[in-house]
Amino acid sequence: MTYVVTENCIKCKFMDCVEVCPVDCFYEGENMLVIHPDECIDCGVCEPECPAEAILPDTEDGAEKFLELNREYSEKWPNITEKGEQPADAEEWNGKEGKLEMLSTNPGEG
Ligand code: SF4
Ligand code: F3S
Repeated sequence: MTYVVTENCIKCKFMDCVEVCPVDCFYEGENMLVIHPDECIDCGVCEPECPAEAILPDTEDGAEKFLELNREYSEKWPNITEKGEQPADAEEWNGKEGKLEMLSTNPGEG
């Protein structure tokens, strides 16, 4: 089991999750973060910290399909260990539908 970042992170990217992870297993894309499934120790502390409720255990309904996305991009994007500045319009995107199509595959700054 692992925790995974799901669709609602896209374009919200609040990054509160990064601050609490004891093993620094978040990776940064241009408009989303992901969790490395092999590095996550399933502690669960990041889940309640996300204002977008985008972090779920992979056993939860709807989360399983994000496991491969988290695995793929955690191997391509840089590690992030400190919270950066959230997008200026992050709140406007919170809860919007259809954000998966807006995922940028570009790496973030890490
Ligand atoms: Fe990090 Fe724990 Fe969240 Fe896994 S569940 S990403 S180890 S804070
Ligand atoms: Fe994304 Fe939530 Fe972290 S929006 S960057 S998973 S705090």
